[in-house]
This record gives sequence, structure tokens and C-alpha cells, in this order.
Amino acid sequence: MTQSILVLDEGTTSTRAMLFTATGKLLGSAQQELTQHYPAPGRVEHDATEIWHRTLACAREMVEKAGGADRIAGIGITNQRETVVAWDRSTGEPLARALVWQDRRTAEFCDELKQAGHEAAVQEQTGLLLDPYFSGTKMRWLLDNEPAVAAAAEAGTLSLGTIESWLVYKLTGGNFISDASNASRTLLLPLGGAQFDDGLCDLLGVPKSALAQVTDNSGHFGVTLKELFGAPIPITGLVGDQQSATIGQGCLSPGETKATYGTGAFILANKGTEIPGSNNRLLGTVLYQDNGERTYALEGSVFVAGSLVQWLRDSLGLLGTASETETLARSISDSGGVVIVPAMSGLGAPHWQPEALGVIAGLSFATGRAQIARAALEAMAHQTYDLAEAFAADGAKWTSLKVDGGMSANDWMAQDIANMLGLPVERPDFVETTALGAAMLAAKGAGLVPSLNEASKVMRGSVGRFEPEIDERAKQQRLVNWRRALSAI
Ligand code: G3P
Repeated sequence: MTQSILVLDEGTTSTRAMLFTATGKLLGSAQQELTQHYPAPGRVEHDATEIWHRTLACAREMVEKAGGADRIAGIGITNQRETVVAWDRSTGEPLARALVWQDRRTAEFCDELKQAGHEAAVQEQTGLLLDPYFSGTKMRWLLDNEPAVAAAAEAGTLSLGTIESWLVYKLTGGNFISDASNASRTLLLPLGGAQFDDGLCDLLGVPKSALAQVTDNSGHFGVTLKELFGAPIPITGLVGDQQSATIGQGCLSPGETKATYGTGAFILANKGTEIPGSNNRLLGTVLYQDNGERTYALEGSVFVAGSLVQWLRDSLGLLGTASETETLARSISDSGGVVIVPAMSGLGAPHWQPEALGVIAGLSFATGRAQIARAALEAMAHQTYDLAEAFAADGAKWTSLKVDGGMSANDWMAQDIANMLGLPVERPDFVETTALGAAMLAAKGAGLVPSLNEASKVMRGSVGRFEPEIDERAKQQRLVNWRRALSAI
């Protein structure tokens, strides 16, 4: 009987279930949007119950498509990282809204920690910086501000976890684990330590008893409750979505680098088994853990990418569809000096300014929809360019860049990135690399393939290439305008 892999890809704006063959062919997918709650500027929340119900509904659709639970060799879960769910172990119910990775409400607490001189030691231990992006300060906020969370902590029934933890808990009816790639985004896991660290938990005021057991990224992580899908299905892969895309792009050797243009843009370079350091405000993170052995990555996290286009479409009404940006960008020869700094969720790497706000500069009466749309796409190349410089300064110079994510389907943007970087940009024909990475890990965990290298050989498809076409003067002018706009925030 042929066995397939079920991937649950729980992103920021939607949750999906995707069914793959053991050779990486996509058999089907189901998707549901997630409600974004913006209770105040800088605050972004999700409803963890909604995430669970919608993920379950999508998964059920795919189990049916597979012909039943016994046709599925393993489930791979990949997820938006850093987002924190607080739930009660005795009831299995959330105690507050989930705080989403984009949420900046802990900026002040991060600042206090920085003022007290903690950042260098925290960076040394965890690879991360003191920014509200990461889970640890969000956990502390929930304890301080949500009475139900504090009461559960007091009663010893509190669970604080990232999204893969929450889904595994619900799917298995009680397993409480977190994979090393997700755990490495909390500020509580030393890059060289197997489990969450007492000293870091004390610094952030998070009780270690509320945290999960840290695991590998592939293996046997429990089985789903029989009543969910008619028969139990083993969970065999768990991974943060950006690490997943890095694996799905086949970046399995040191130096190989990918950029995913989704809600945000996340660039990760494989750094092998040495713990990575950065002098240029990049992050060290766990790429994956296998039998307790870690492979690391250097990461540049940009908070706004596709969400900028979404904002132009949904909030400003400037676009009918996201893909219209490509036609608009091609309809003019330059942006007419318009520059967008998309700091709607603060600025991430390499700037790390949580309180920064977005800017549209260079407006004139000649500015129209096309200039704004083109400037939005150009902002992706500008942000990528800044990261290319930071990676090079950290000794991880790119020789090419592998792109993926919904926004990378835009040919004009992919070519513009190649032009600005002066490097070839590679794009797989199958751009769902986030789901593919989780499928590769789950296939390995289920014993369908012996290694990730083997999974990469059998499951990945063909790749297209954008060669750089450089106009040095135009490039330099754009960079001058970009820097000027950046300095205005
Ligand atoms: O770190 C945040 C990241 O995991 C979000 O990913 O795919 O929702 O842009 P995405």
C-alpha cells in the first residue's frame, strides 16, 4: 500500500494541510485563513482555538483524500515561529489570545534588559537579540498581564509553547514537546544546550515548569488521538517554517543560503555544526537537530514582505490582486524616486528597531499607483541587499540566493533581487519549500528515507534561475535613496 506524508503548515495568515507522496509529489492541499486580531498599534494576536479547529479541518480533508489515516506514514508540522500560546494542561484550553511574532508589546521590557547590560550574554548563549520578536518576553507578558495565565502558573498547570507544541498537544491529547528549531527562537534555549536553561528562564521570569521538553526535528513524537482521524497517525517531523524552507531548498551544506518571501522575509544560511556568532546583528539559530546533534544557521529576519503588498491591496485599496504589482512595476522604468521603508512591525535585521514606523518617501504629483507598487517590490531587494552585506561581514558571503515563498512567484521581483545583489537567484519550480522541508523531515522520521540528503535527492524538483543584469548607476542611486529614507525613521 502506498504511503503518503501529511504536512500541517501553520503560517501567520493561514493554516494548510498538504498531502505529499514519498517522492515529494503534491497530491492535494486544503487551506483556511486565520483571523488577525490587532487590538492596538504594535499588538498582533491569534486565537489558538481557531488555529486548532482550522488546522484539524484541513487535516481531515487531506486524510480523506489519502484514503484514510492508515495510508499516512507520518505527519510533519511546520509553523510560524515565536508565536506563544498559553494553555492549561488540565483542561487543554487556551488561557489567553496567542501573542504573534509580529507583536511589539514587550519593547519596553526588552529595553530594560538591554539597559541592564544583558544583551551580549544573551546573544552569546542563544544567538538571539533582545527584541520583542522572540517568545520569551511574550511569555513573561502573559504571566504579568493575564490573570488566568498567572493562576495556572500558581496551580502548576500552565503550559507555554510555540505553535508546534500547541498542535502536538492537541493532536496527541497531551504530549508536551517543542522541537529544537522552534525552541531556539524563545531566548530560553542555549544554542549549545539540550534543554531550556534555568538562568535564562530566571532572567526573563518564565517558570521552567511551564515549558516543554526539547526534541529532535524528526523521529517519533507520539500518535494522533484515534477519534481525530479514525485511526492513529504518527507525528514524525516538527520544524519552524523558516528552517523548514531552508531544508526544502536543499540547503544542507554549510554556506547554502535561502530567502523566503512570505508574510515577512527570512534569510537563512546553513552554518554546519559550529555554533554561529554574529558581529553584524544577525541571529544564530538551530537549523535542525538529529539524534541530539545540531546543525545551525545564521539568520536575517525581515518583518515585512508580502504583508506590505497585502496592506496596499486590503487597507489602501491600491491593488486588486497581489500579482498586479508585477504588471505595474513593469509599466514604468523606475519608481520615480519613491522609496518605501516597510517598518510596519518595527525593523528587524540588521537594524533591530522595534519602535520604528514605516515610511513612504519621495512623493510628488507624478506619483501614482505604479510608482508605489514598484517601490514596494523594490523594498524587498533593498532589505535583501542590507542582509547580503551583513552576512558577508559575518564571513558568510553569498554566491547565489535560493528564493521561495508566495511573493517569489513575482518574476519582476526575483529579477530585481538578482540585479541588486549582482548574484544569480534560483527559484524552485515548486515554491512550496516550507511544506516540502517538513515532508522531508517527516519522511525521515517515518523511516521512508534514511537521511535528509537522500530525502533531498528524491523529493526535490527542478530549479529556475535569474541571472543578474546590472545597471550600476541606477543601483547606486537606489541605494542612496534607500539609505536616506531609512535614516528618516
Ligand atoms: O519568524 C516568523 C516566521 O516564522 C513567520 O513566517 O511564513 O508566516 O512569514 P511566515
